[in-house]
Amino acid sequence: MLLKENVSLAPFNTFGFDAEARFLTEVNSAEEIQQIILDPQWQQKQLLILGGGSNILLTGPQDKLVIRIVSKGIELVKEDHDFYYLEVQAGEIWDDFVLYCVQHQYGGVENLSLIPGTVGAAPMQNIGAYGAEIRQVFDHLKAVDRLSGELVRFSAEECRFGYRESVFKTTLKDKYIIASVTFRLSKKHQPSIEYGDIRRTLAEMGIHEPDMKAVREAVMAIRRSKLPDPAQIGNSGSFFKNPVISADQYTQLKEEFPEIPGYPAGEGQVKVAAGWIIEKAGWKGYREGNVGVHDRQALVLVHFGNGHGKEVLALSDKIRKSVWDKFGIELTPEVNILT
Ligand code: EPU
Repeated sequence: MLLKENVSLAPFNTFGFDAEARFLTEVNSAEEIQQIILDPQWQQKQLLILGGGSNILLTGPQDKLVIRIVSKGIELVKEDHDFYYLEVQAGEIWDDFVLYCVQHQYGGVENLSLIPGTVGAAPMQNIGAYGAEIRQVFDHLKAVDRLSGELVRFSAEECRFGYRESVFKTTLKDKYIIASVTFRLSKKHQPSIEYGDIRRTLAEMGIHEPDMKAVREAVMAIRRSKLPDPAQIGNSGSFFKNPVISADQYTQLKEEFPEIPGYPAGEGQVKVAAGWIIEKAGWKGYREGNVGVHDRQALVLVHFGNGHGKEVLALSDKIRKSVWDKFGIELTPEVNILT
């Protein structure tokens, strides 16, 4: 294995923070992950697994062994009357996979176009956008047990997907390394355009009977209009989750703020738009030193360059406090904060 020492992680996180890794290596397959796990030299060492680095906030140097998963490959492993089953290696770039599916007419991931990150990271937080979530097309995944090195298969049920959640963020946190994901993609696909912005954007494009390609283009246009491109301004997408509150609290808030967006989230619960709340608390477009709140989507915190992850952390704490004081709502980070 090729080991690098004292490496800047700036190119490997989309916030672009310059934290140093004591050790860094890259792996191309499940077997290479297993070799490291079983190597006595690394058994006592903590690991930091990096996919695209698009959902992390680095707040300091990393004394761990950083493993970048760069395995590639998309393989059609099975086909039945209704579905194609594709096994995709964890290091594939998520949006390259979406493009591949659209080009081959494999249906179900086009609404998830342009989400940054890798395929292996996608199930960790059940990525979602524009009315779709990865769990709808998920068949199973294979992951390496960090203690035994064994390659274990997880069904959708075993992954316990929730809103930006899976078992790999909760009870099995830091226990497995995802090596590949197998998706179940539709042969007779009906594009899903219920999400308001998609319908409107397609109408503006003059498209009334959209195919997957049109939906992908609409989603890309919407994302580009709202979300900053990490290649230009460092960011990690939504910094917080949309909070779920009780229907009673929502009714009370609606009296004071009639336009507060809310979506049903199970019995007696409502999911409210954190971006709207943060904007209402006065933070949209706010800048403090080298970091700030995006001026077109207040849920996204940004790094303008030459800053430190601790600045984003401090800003996020201020936002959380102000939202708590104004709305009585607790915001929880969606990104993984690494100290
Ligand atoms: N809104 C505002 N002000 C803002 C931002 C949003 O008023 O600054 C309002 C919007 O007008 C809308 C509502 O809040 O009424 C929801 O906004 P939007 O549709 O942009 O979606 P979101 O809830 O802010 C979520 C995901 C995004 C995903 C979009 C689209 C989370 C935490 N975020 O954002 O995912 O792209 O829906 O489906 O669930 C990500 O996870 O990194 C991410 C970008």
